[in-house]
Amino acid sequence: MDAHEWDDRYRQAREGHDARLWSAVPAQLVQDTVAPWQPGRALDLATGDGRNAIWLAGRGWQVTGLDFSAEAIAQAGEHARAAGVHVDWLVADATTWQPEGRFDLVTVMYLHLPEVLFRTLLARMLGWLTPGGHLLVLGHDRANIGVGGPGPGNPDILYTPELLSSIVGPERVLRCETVSRDLATDPESPADTGGVALDTVLVARA
Ligand SMILES: C[S@@+](CC[C@H](N)C(=O)[O-])C[C@H]1O[C@@H](n2cnc3c(N)ncnc32)[C@H](O)[C@@H]1O
Repeated sequence: MDAHEWDDRYRQAREGHDARLWSAVPAQLVQDTVAPWQPGRALDLATGDGRNAIWLAGRGWQVTGLDFSAEAIAQAGEHARAAGVHVDWLVADATTWQPEGRFDLVTVMYLHLPEVLFRTLLARMLGWLTPGGHLLVLGHDRANIGVGGPGPGNPDILYTPELLSSIVGPERVLRCETVSRDLATDPESPADTGGVALDTVLVARA
């Protein structure tokens, strides 16, 4: 999907019943992983309407949230104002954007690109970290297709632990595995569909 197609999705969601495309609840994995870390400078790539960036800002991080959908970023800005936090929002294509300076934390959640693009992006993201910084990646696992959870059905753009680990290099990996979310109880789940969703998680150090 290109940026205009994403704009349309976010606009339609705004006009719908929930007024949001995704849950306002940040990924539990972000909360659990990041909570013990000292706040610093963070980047949330493909931030969408900003749930993770806003949560980080509320914990004292100095956050940049980037997405190529201008509509997503407009909605993210509104949510941040409502939450009383500041985030530096950027409309840009993650595959070509170049940051100024480095980050103590770089996160990317549910950004599903063709493998060649994703490999290049992830390798670049590692280079944006400060020494001692962390990279946090979360997205739909390839095995998710088989269990019927929401998410893309094209295996070529989905993650596996082997894929993510091979891109960053096993020596940097702190955690890399397939995790299961129970959709009946998961607060992130936009619909009470039941069943499970399988995600891949990667936590890596610089
Ligand atoms: C499934 S949403 C995830 C949003 C957010 N990370 C979250 O977990 O709530 C994927 C997001 O990636 C963005 N996106 C897709 N391709 C992108 C690209 N090349 N550059 C920047 N953003 C992109 C879309 O606009 C969309 O907001």
